[in-house]
This record gives sequence, structure tokens and C-alpha cells, in this order.
Amino acid sequence: MRKPIIAANWKMNKGPRDTEDFLNTFSGKLGKLTAEADIVVAPPFVSLTAAVAALSSNSAVAIAAQNVSEQDNGAFTGEISTMMLKELYVRYVIIGHSERRTLYGETNAIINAKVKKSLEAQLKPIFCIGETLEEREGGKLEAVLRSQITEGLAGIEEKEMKGIVVAYEPVWAIGTGVVATVEQAQDAHAFVRSVIADLYTQELADKIRIQYGGSMKADNAGELLAQPDIDGGLVGGASLEPQSFLDLINAAVK
Ligand code: PGA
Repeated sequence: MRKPIIAANWKMNKGPRDTEDFLNTFSGKLGKLTAEADIVVAPPFVSLTAAVAALSSNSAVAIAAQNVSEQDNGAFTGEISTMMLKELYVRYVIIGHSERRTLYGETNAIINAKVKKSLEAQLKPIFCIGETLEEREGGKLEAVLRSQITEGLAGIEEKEMKGIVVAYEPVWAIGTGVVATVEQAQDAHAFVRSVIADLYTQELADKIRIQYGGSMKADNAGELLAQPDIDGGLVGGASLEPQSFLDLINAAVK
């Protein structure tokens, strides 16, 4: 049985004050939900310290960063290293989000370097993949996913793969309100799992958690997570208010 993992990706929203307010309300209402799902919150870098402080009494909620440098340290203006994140008790890092790929030019090779650097530091990557509408309509869905997985995970050994969570996020469903149908999502997840089985072993593929991302909300989380290969969610818009995120988690684990 794979434990569901639900992560809030706040993107460029919430400074330290809003982060603290959100987490105080949210963690007060979580109750037993953390026993049923791993819950992760990814604030912007400048709000990570506030998140750590606000969650000190509720370490059941893990903190993620939204990005990380593939370099160790040095002359890389504006970048943040894995070691800096470790110092703040960050446990996960989102890598290769489609906004990083399309707006900031991150290639599969850069993403691969970031995944490796994170694993070296014992940070758990939330490794994001997904096709554009044009790619899906052009019949390239499987080829795109296969190359993102093969190139993004190149050189990563089976034992290290246990630290990785995969997030399948069809680009056309992110922030658009257009959610993939459960069949589209399940088919893509099953395909992703089969590629991991080809690259590694079926045993590993059966253990890897694959989140769905793209306009997930309380209304659709239940049926998405009921699919055999959907093990959680990476949630943008619906994670920005404590009650909306709590409702989504409740629906997901039902
Ligand atoms: P969304 O974003 O839930 O707002 O579609 C998901 C994501 O980008 O991770």
C-alpha cells in the first residue's frame, strides 16, 4: 500500500506573515489527517524560516522548497543550495515544475543535476513531468513522458529512487481549471509507472508514489485518488486557503 502524499505548491504567493497565519490555522485543524496522508507544504524560499517556526509543534507536516540549485556554493547569484535548505529542516524539493521548464528554461539535463544534488543531501525530490496540450494532441504524450523520465532520472540508482516522488502534471491542466479526466490521469500514471518498471524493476515501480497535479480541488480529489496509480496530489490554487486545502485532503483520503 502506498501512503498518499499531498503537497501544496504555493508558487510565488505568501510571504513570511501569510505563511505563519496559514500554518497556524491549518495545523490546528489537521487532526488525524497526517496519519492517513503525508502532507507537504512548499512556500517561497523567503517564507521557509517562518514555516519551520510555525510548524515546530507539528512536525507531521513536511516542508518543501519549490526549487534548488544544482551547484554546491559559490558565484551563482540568486541561487539557493541543498545545504541551505537542509539547515532549515526542509525535507522535500519540487524539481522540474513545468513553470520552471517553460518560463526559466530548465532542461531535462538541469533537472537531472538538481535531482542528483538533492538526493546527495538527503532531500526528497518531487520530480515533475507532464506534456503540453500540443504534445498530447500531436500523439506525443508517451514519448514526452518517457524522455522526461529517462533523462531526468539518468544515472540515479534504484536504491536512491526510494527517496523520489513523481508528480505527473499535464501542463494544460495547471492553473487553468481544466482537470484531466480520471481516465486520462490514470492512463498517464500507469504509463509513468511502466516506464519506471522498464528502467528499474517492477518492485520499485510498485513502491514509487506518483502524484497528480493540475487543477486538483476538493471536488475531484476523491475520484482521482481512487484510481489505482494515483497516489496523491501536487496542488496549486486550491492549497492557498487553509480550509480549501483541508477539504481537498479530506476528500482525497476518504
Ligand atoms: P494548480 O497548480 O493546482 O493551480 O493547477 C498545480 C501545480 O502547478 O503544481
